[in-house]
Amino acid sequence: MLELSLTLLIMIYLDALSCKKTERPPIWFMRQAGRYMQQYQDIRKNHNFLEMIGTPQLATEITLQPIDAFGFDAAILFSDILTLVKPFGCSLEFKEGIGPVIDDPLQAEAIKALEIPNIKQECGFVFEAVKLIREKLLPYKIPLIGFSGAPFTVASYMIEGKSSPNLETVKYWIGHNPNELHDLLEKLTVSVIDYLDEQVNAGVQALQLFDTWAGLLSYEDFKLFIAPYLKKIVSHVRTKHNVPITVFCKHTMAFLDLLIDINPNGISVDWQTNLRDIKSKVPSTMALQGNLDPLLLFAKPEKLRERVIEKLDIMKDRPGYIFNLGHGILPTTPVENVKLVVDTVKSYRG
Ligand code: CP3
Repeated sequence: MLELSLTLLIMIYLDALSCKKTERPPIWFMRQAGRYMQQYQDIRKNHNFLEMIGTPQLATEITLQPIDAFGFDAAILFSDILTLVKPFGCSLEFKEGIGPVIDDPLQAEAIKALEIPNIKQECGFVFEAVKLIREKLLPYKIPLIGFSGAPFTVASYMIEGKSSPNLETVKYWIGHNPNELHDLLEKLTVSVIDYLDEQVNAGVQALQLFDTWAGLLSYEDFKLFIAPYLKKIVSHVRTKHNVPITVFCKHTMAFLDLLIDINPNGISVDWQTNLRDIKSKVPSTMALQGNLDPLLLFAKPEKLRERVIEKLDIMKDRPGYIFNLGHGILPTTPVENVKLVVDTVKSYRG
């Protein structure tokens, strides 16, 4: 009996991704390992972020921190979407209070000669971390999610050199250098595929693509610069591996028909979307993940619990629902509210 319930626990996130009926929705949070946790800060005091993701033992320890503290139903590899930037020859630094900075952003004239890197070699530390995490996760009986930045979001950093709320330079390229942008997206697509293949070979059991900045494009440009590349990656993964893949971008509803056409196993829904609305529009064979506003984690406990239950109630008759935030958790989030959400979801029986 104990064995059986352990097996059920292992499967809950993967079952929901394949739209099987589960006893309750599984739960994990985007950016679940990070600065809001004291255990993370204790390591961060002595190491910079790139050292943390570049050292498999540290990445493993940090991946497990939120699992030990809150009991999430899946672990996500501790890394960053920008690990792909350095192999392409761009410098990368994470500056205190600013975030990622690339001092030598790409120029349109340089794209033609840009070489596709050997990802297996350049990102070996990531695959080592995956192997180590899988080993350490065995007693927890939960799956490990691997991930990559999607081509457009990674390209945006390589072109803008930093987080850029309007993507002005990228949009300049769209207007003046669309061929170079497509060339860069093609090259990144090859690398993202190599990167995901190697993560699967190392042992990840599910994948997520983060295309945060895709949400800043118009519908027409999403169709041209996002959809074909995501579709290529998703269909590669679905053909080659038996590993489900989820896609996240902001402004989910604006691009919903295109996202459905990309045909991922799951769509990670942003926090502004009306769940009732998206539930009625997405095929029942596609999982939905989301979409609590990360800022609600700062609310009073009663209000927070009420909002969590509201989402659970909306989705209770819809197999293939995974509880998550609608974007990454913020560094100042009170940990007791994270616990409250996990406990509320785990005790829900609709
Ligand atoms: O979900 C997870 O727990 C896995 C790890 C993960 C991180 N970043 C850890 C991280 C994942 C999946 C990401 C994704 C990521 N990284 C995205 C896409 C999703 C999103 O949230 O929009 C983007 C755009 C990035 C790029 C990035 N990395 C930024 C803009 C920053 C700075 C943000 C900030 O708040 O300072 C990072 C750094 C980063 N990535 C940290 C962590 C835990 C903070 C590092 C630190 O200073 O300790």
